[in-house]
Amino acid sequence: MALDKSFVDNSSWKPDLFKGKVVFVTGGAGSICRIQTEAMVLLGADAAIIGRNVQKTENAAKEIQQLRPGSKVIGLGNVDVRDVNSIAKSVEKTVEELGRIDFVIAGAAGNFLSDFNHLSSNAFKSVVSIDLLGSFNTVKACFDQLRKNKGAIIFVSATLHYYGVPFQSHVGAAKAGVDALSNALAVELGPIGIRSNCIAPGMIEGTEGMSRLTPPGATPFDKKVPLQRLGSGKDIAEATVYLFSPAADYVTGTIQVVDGGVWHIGSFMGDLYPNIIIQQNLDEVSKL
Ligand code: COA
Repeated sequence: MALDKSFVDNSSWKPDLFKGKVVFVTGGAGSICRIQTEAMVLLGADAAIIGRNVQKTENAAKEIQQLRPGSKVIGLGNVDVRDVNSIAKSVEKTVEELGRIDFVIAGAAGNFLSDFNHLSSNAFKSVVSIDLLGSFNTVKACFDQLRKNKGAIIFVSATLHYYGVPFQSHVGAAKAGVDALSNALAVELGPIGIRSNCIAPGMIEGTEGMSRLTPPGATPFDKKVPLQRLGSGKDIAEATVYLFSPAADYVTGTIQVVDGGVWHIGSFMGDLYPNIIIQQNLDEVSKL
């Protein structure tokens, strides 16, 4: 689901919209954040993408760099967002190689489906640490650059916490925290020229999230979406470009939901709920 030059040719945006700017992206080799990085690079920015897996991160950076001649994209692997010092080192490296950081995408995330009964305390902690503490650490490490360049932040959130989604208590709790963090930063950092917003993607076709989180046996989702289709990477790219562009100069503390309207329906499990939960617990209780 990668972007190509047609994104610029058919775009509402000027091709050099982000010329001279640098975006720092955690999770930039993953599906959603990679698309966001690609859009920024295609529209003139240089980029640093950060990830745990060295090979995957470096390869993704090389591929993204090929999208626009003259662009610089660096891939910094072996960085865990749970460790603020590890991000701080990659910020230093980014400034050394690309000169500055104007935009930050805090997108590194961990997720899996697990009911409460099978979710260990450590599993809950891992996801909250990656998604929430990791988002805090990312902004913390980039703060001097954001302040100097009057930058902007996008947190990658979700819609899971707008209602109760079974098997996602860990991520729902983490993403609720991410929204709260973004709102507080919008208020606290606004007076020094930094904007903070969230993008909450819905069901985006071809993403790791879709493949990880679609319950086995679930009926196809697309016709349940008010706009009658799954989301595409381009939908996320457009929202990202908007929030970082001067068109959003007066926009901070918002959560841009990009989901075709589906969260209003609130039916993630469809026909599987509640039998899937009752049966699983009955099986376990009978063993006690
Ligand atoms: N169901 C229930 N528990 C799970 C699980 C699953 N599918 N996967 C991992 N866990 C638990 C582990 O058992 C462990 O708990 P324990 O110590 O009580 O056994 C805990 O989570 C931490 O697992 P570990 O593999 O040590 O953590 P990690 O930090 O290496 O990995 C994860 C973090 C668990 C979030 C892992 O899924 C991950 O790395 N994901 C990254 C990519 C991703 O999720 N992208 C999501 C895009 S939507």
